[in-house]
Amino acid sequence: MSMPNDQGAPHDARTIIAGLRAGLPPAPAALDWFAAGLASGEVSDAQAGAFAMAICLNGLGPAGRVALTRAMQNSGEQLHWDLPGPVVDKHSTGGIGDCTSLLLAPALAACGAYVPMISGRGLGHTGGTLDKLESIPGLRTDRTTDQLRSQLAQTRCAIIAASPQIAPADRRLYAIRDVTATVDSIDLITASILSKKLAAGLEGLVLDVKFGSGAFMKTEQQARALAQALVSTAQGAGCMTTALITDMSQPLAPAAGNALEVIAVMETLTGTAVNAALWDLTAALGGEALALGGLAADAADGAARIEQALQSGAAAEYFGHMIAAQGGPADFVDRWPDRLPSAPVTLDFNSPLDGFIGAIDTESLGHIVVQLGGGRLRQGAPINPSVGLSNLAAIGTTVEPGQPLARVHAATKAQAEAALKQLAAAYTITDQAPDLPPLIIGRIT
Ligand code: URA
Repeated sequence: MSMPNDQGAPHDARTIIAGLRAGLPPAPAALDWFAAGLASGEVSDAQAGAFAMAICLNGLGPAGRVALTRAMQNSGEQLHWDLPGPVVDKHSTGGIGDCTSLLLAPALAACGAYVPMISGRGLGHTGGTLDKLESIPGLRTDRTTDQLRSQLAQTRCAIIAASPQIAPADRRLYAIRDVTATVDSIDLITASILSKKLAAGLEGLVLDVKFGSGAFMKTEQQARALAQALVSTAQGAGCMTTALITDMSQPLAPAAGNALEVIAVMETLTGTAVNAALWDLTAALGGEALALGGLAADAADGAARIEQALQSGAAAEYFGHMIAAQGGPADFVDRWPDRLPSAPVTLDFNSPLDGFIGAIDTESLGHIVVQLGGGRLRQGAPINPSVGLSNLAAIGTTVEPGQPLARVHAATKAQAEAALKQLAAAYTITDQAPDLPPLIIGRIT
């Protein structure tokens, strides 16, 4: 591959990285070359890591961000649909206990939408939808475009990985960013999310842009900047997009870890234990998606439709069809407690004091899950689907000494005990009741 650069010389990764390191964003053609090289393997892992680090440190600027998004989108096929309903989707910028995608894809399908959800694995300290879904025995997320098309026609929703066919540049760069501390860049997050979402041929996209201690964006100002970048890039590419800015100062569901979050999803889908934050955010995001797709009068009407799909069991039914279509157990919705793996060791973390839970270092909770084996510290490392944290107490909870605040699920006692020490540092107990963070802080459209 030797497309010429502006001076007529062939592009090469070293020159592109050196330019970025010097603060000179590459020309669109150079980014096209780099994204194609990520997809073909011509760019090495080391070069991809250096490229990502240089962007993290120096940024690309708005035009470079749009050019990288286009280049990564065009590294694979562009899907086009001819289906009897709108094609919509939702994506989150990442957090802890954020399993809304697993609820939302089938709930949207139950409301008449088609959802070709191309998702990610764990990224940095955050959990990944694909890893969560793959804790279901037999389930596959590596689908070809033909398999995706036939599944969508059959079940209206699919949750799959970027592939050698769709957004292959993101597939590669994402895994490298996960283990090279190069996630928290507005340019890289925008290009990563939108390259796969735009390639999926969506008519409407809802983005959940998170901020707080468990998010990549720690402040509301950073989250607003990311939301603006995402919405303007997506709208510029012709995809109707709305972003909600939401709280990630504490875990969304009271669980963090792959199978443990699937349990939280199944409890909500089957009505056995509904978590209010998870429910409310799913309804709000879904409402926006239905409004974008023309299946609801507005976001409030859409949210009511999503709640009805959850309450009536219709979303659970679509979830069951999706799981079976992707190779999981056909009876998963009825038999999920018997089907999910569980960890051999569980230990409770108990409050050392009385008072209130004043704050949670939510990023630390994500690192605990990674260290327990629920995420990756090396590219391609296998993960343990059963480990993580459950029964996580929320900010504002009144506590007394000895009261359990979290349960650790681990492969060994030593790992569980190490997690208990980290939990003690992650939870702040205060004398005064804290202000409770609102779940949804803003909306950008
Ligand atoms: N989700 C993605 O797909 N990519 C990111 O960079 C962050 C969240």
